[in-house]
Amino acid sequence: MRFCLNIDHVATLRNARGGNEPDPVTVALQAELAGADGIVVHLREDRRHIKERDLYLLREVIKTKLDLEMAAVEDIIKIACDVKPELATLVPEKRLELTTEGGLNVIDNIDNLRDTIRDLHKSDILVSLFIEPDEEQINAAAEIGSDLIEIHTGVFAEAKTEEEQFDELEKIRFAAKHAKKLGLGVNAGHGLNYQNIKIFRELSDIDELSIGHAVIARAVYTGVDKAVREMISLMKG
Ligand code: PXP
Repeated sequence: MRFCLNIDHVATLRNARGGNEPDPVTVALQAELAGADGIVVHLREDRRHIKERDLYLLREVIKTKLDLEMAAVEDIIKIACDVKPELATLVPEKRLELTTEGGLNVIDNIDNLRDTIRDLHKSDILVSLFIEPDEEQINAAAEIGSDLIEIHTGVFAEAKTEEEQFDELEKIRFAAKHAKKLGLGVNAGHGLNYQNIKIFRELSDIDELSIGHAVIARAVYTGVDKAVREMISLMKG
């Protein structure tokens, strides 16, 4: 199973001061050195975290693969076709949401998604659709020529009881198996963390996980000790 790091939150922190630090591009390179199989960024319509500058620099410097999360809208499709990430993951996007709140409704947006997949394919970009673990959505994704799906794991991650978590996991397991049977690649992500990750080891139909918040949050904790020691040593000489 491959691991791809979503670095949006590094850009969120950078943007809080409007300067250049911390630079998501530097973090992407560090993540690759640590073994990440790919880098994920979401270029949102409101540019609240990742900006064009990040995307173009990442395209130039990363050595693994770039997964661009994006809405299926004209101006972002244009940028994607110019940047040419290895993978474009189409997601629903609402301006007021804190993060992507759920999967695409492929069935209700079938014409726009089919056209978007066709446009991205013309630029040799593989396409994934971020969807709920739902058989009909998976069938629709395969029907319109998607290469992969990314299964939304947010409901699993937020389950309040063991029973609810188990039910969601079974849905994910079935969805991954079904997608594989249809010839689709299978990614998954959203809300995965250091507590709930281990159970995914047994889901052999999932090829790749996309994880952001938990890893960037952990990096703050694990990096504080060194950062404080370095500042004190510079202060005291
Ligand atoms: N996959 C998709 C499609 C997402 O939108 C996100 C959040 O940006 C993730 C995975 C990663 O979610 P998290 O930050 O909770 O790990």
